[in-house]
Amino acid sequence: MYNFDKIINRRNTNCAKWDTLAAMYGRNDLIHLGVADMDFESPKPILDAFSKVVDHKIFGYTDLNDGFYSSIQRWINKQLGVNIPREWIVFCPRINIASSICVDTLTSPSSSVILNSPAYSPLKEAIVKNNRRLIENSLVIKNGKFTMDFDHLESIVDDDTEMFILCNPDNPSGRVWSRKELEQLVQFCKEKDLILFSDEIHSDLLAEGVKHNSALHFEELYDRLIYANSPTKTFNIPGVIISYMIIPNEELRDKVKKSIDRIGMHNPNIFSVVAVEAAYNHCDDWLMSVKDYVNENEKFVRSFLEENMKEFVVMPREGTYLLWIDYTALGVSEDELRDWFINEAKVELYMATNFGKDGYGYIRMNIAAPRKLLEEALNNMKNVYHKIKHK
Ligand SMILES: Cc1ncc(COP(=O)(O)O)c(C=O)c1O
Repeated sequence: MYNFDKIINRRNTNCAKWDTLAAMYGRNDLIHLGVADMDFESPKPILDAFSKVVDHKIFGYTDLNDGFYSSIQRWINKQLGVNIPREWIVFCPRINIASSICVDTLTSPSSSVILNSPAYSPLKEAIVKNNRRLIENSLVIKNGKFTMDFDHLESIVDDDTEMFILCNPDNPSGRVWSRKELEQLVQFCKEKDLILFSDEIHSDLLAEGVKHNSALHFEELYDRLIYANSPTKTFNIPGVIISYMIIPNEELRDKVKKSIDRIGMHNPNIFSVVAVEAAYNHCDDWLMSVKDYVNENEKFVRSFLEENMKEFVVMPREGTYLLWIDYTALGVSEDELRDWFINEAKVELYMATNFGKDGYGYIRMNIAAPRKLLEEALNNMKNVYHKIKHK
């Protein structure tokens, strides 16, 4: 029903994934598997909604409508089984803006904020660029999976800590935190009196058989919870720039809303409101299909690597469309590997130091792409593997 095999040339479209990074490396023959968006067409109901806006030919200031709020309420109920009142929903163009505003507004200048490590770098920047002290909670591998070590967490939290930023599903590790891990984290935040900022932008993109456990499932957290989400990853519309927070606590919510108002962020992009309504009401089938396709891509990449380049060891993926791959068995440095990817294999993907010191020894591969494109990238790698394997 949907043709995710279709290869679409994204070069020369001001594309952050295909153009910006090509310019950075000074070449236009790379296959890009880095930036986290999909190389698939967005769902038709969203395209139709955009066409309607374009056909109207006036692109005036836009307001949030009832449909914006009710679509989010419907989605949260459908995905998480949680009913949220409309007034808890706070519009914000990007989650990266939301995380920064929340750190700036809800923590004091001398405070520290905890973030798991490795981490999606803008979450780290939200802390560091607001001059808060970053406390990195190094994830540890247990039973083959990245996990939070709560004993370690107890040892790094201090009297100045005011917030914990969680990414769930976790970018880059691909973990969907278990109910038990979240219970422990909720307890920890309550005991240490921390606000929890839970970035759940990848929560609709789950691997086969995985169920998402959300911070919204913990009512005891509602006095201190900022939940952030968006349909942009799920339906491949991140260029539309739209996200939202759910903030149950009125005092926290008012503070955040005032900050959003203070920086003049008053109106949403004209395409964003119709995108949210179309995405959250009319694209369920597309989402099911894209998840199936990504799951098949994962199987394909795993078996290709196992058969041909077994020193690349893929960690379990529970959520996201990103594979977190351990290359330590190759015994090469990150610089050597980057050089090999760009100049020999002609594949661009994310090196793990983008995600902090605890990412060292890993690469992140985006598999939300037509299978033929992944196959081409993997064949490129295979053809020059001898040049990196015996360094
Ligand atoms: C965990 C996470 N949070 C936030 C974002 C960006 O969200 P936004 O485009 O709404 O700033 C990304 C994009 O890759 C992400 O992976």
